[in-house]
Amino acid sequence: LRASNPIFKQFFPNGHYGWIISKYEDAVEVLKDQRFIKDIAKVSSIEQTSVIGKNMLFSDLPDHKRLRGFVQKGFTPQIIAGKREHIQKIADDLLDAVSAGHTMNLIDDYAFHLPIIVICEILGIPTEDREKFRSWSNSIIEASFEERSREASLQAQDEFVEYLRERFAIVRENPGDDLISQLVVADETGDQLSEGELYGVVTLLIIAGHETTVNLIGNGVLALLEHPEQREQLIQHPEYIHGAIEEMLRYNGPVEFSTARWASEDLAFKGHMIQKNDLVIVALDSANRDPERFSQPDVFDISRGKSQHLAFGKGIHLCLGAPLARLEGEIAINTLLRRFPKLELQANIADLEWRPGMLVRGVKELPLS
Ligand code: HEM
Repeated sequence: LRASNPIFKQFFPNGHYGWIISKYEDAVEVLKDQRFIKDIAKVSSIEQTSVIGKNMLFSDLPDHKRLRGFVQKGFTPQIIAGKREHIQKIADDLLDAVSAGHTMNLIDDYAFHLPIIVICEILGIPTEDREKFRSWSNSIIEASFEERSREASLQAQDEFVEYLRERFAIVRENPGDDLISQLVVADETGDQLSEGELYGVVTLLIIAGHETTVNLIGNGVLALLEHPEQREQLIQHPEYIHGAIEEMLRYNGPVEFSTARWASEDLAFKGHMIQKNDLVIVALDSANRDPERFSQPDVFDISRGKSQHLAFGKGIHLCLGAPLARLEGEIAINTLLRRFPKLELQANIADLEWRPGMLVRGVKELPLS
């Protein structure tokens, strides 16, 4: 598609005409161009009825800046760096529970738990409830663009909201020093999130905070298993992990397509007429393998150096959690390799099952021994 039809128009099951943008250069332009907006209410009579949809990812300026501002300061690289030791302990505890010599399912035994424990702790939500979030957020994510899963998704949203309603009541009664306690009150300027925004921001952080990083760990380990010489290099030189994580994000990124954008006006884009209200989606993983941007894009090379991949998006919606995801990925993968350097895949790569849906890309299970 990228070579033959890089700006491709098709009819989407949600009833909209949409464009798929698959070249790196075009992807960057779309992600930075604010004529492609996020708030569906501005282009459609369909109202954003879902309470969990009122968040920064589905907003445009100035609302976006305001919503992001409530949480931004908790996710800076400096604040996140302070969590290194604690995340290391979580990784070690999880691997203590896996005994050497036995088969482990990397996703269920390790990759899922680490990021969800971290984001629950930041928010101040009991980590024991993490399996509930997993099933709710899976239903919500996998339903994107697919009508058939909408019912399950709506039910999951209701249950999610009900859970949070009870949680917020507890926090208001008994605030702590977690992020939700800070969000239920006004900030230093006196501004406060509305009830709907509060659900939206917290739900987004729970979903974005684990669905993606699970797959960074899963896809990253899979890439190392497929390339034993790269894995050996990383075992010998754990300090190469920063470059390795960037290459894992580029080579097999956890977010396959961006979320939806909408043309706010009729516009000419690289010889195509995109009409007002058309849906526009960026194929991030495809852009990250564009041969016009990356030399030998299908080669996995942990020494490639800074590659400016688009795995975290670009523009105002650039991933808020990128510093956290990078740190979690580095710790998770280096700890796994240090403790189990001889891990082997207990399945044929061709038989691995991938998760459904357009948004996230990751294997359902990764059996190792
Ligand atoms: C936005 C990827 C981890 C929170 C995004 C976007 C991408 C992305 C591509 C932009 C989507 C778009 O423009 O349509 C990833 C990847 C991750 C990851 C690949 C892991 C490897 C996290 C984590 C958090 C998080 C751990 C939680 C703290 C967010 C938020 C946004 C976002 C809040 C919306 C930002 C905005 O609209 O301003 N992420 N993400 N992400 N991500 Fe992440």
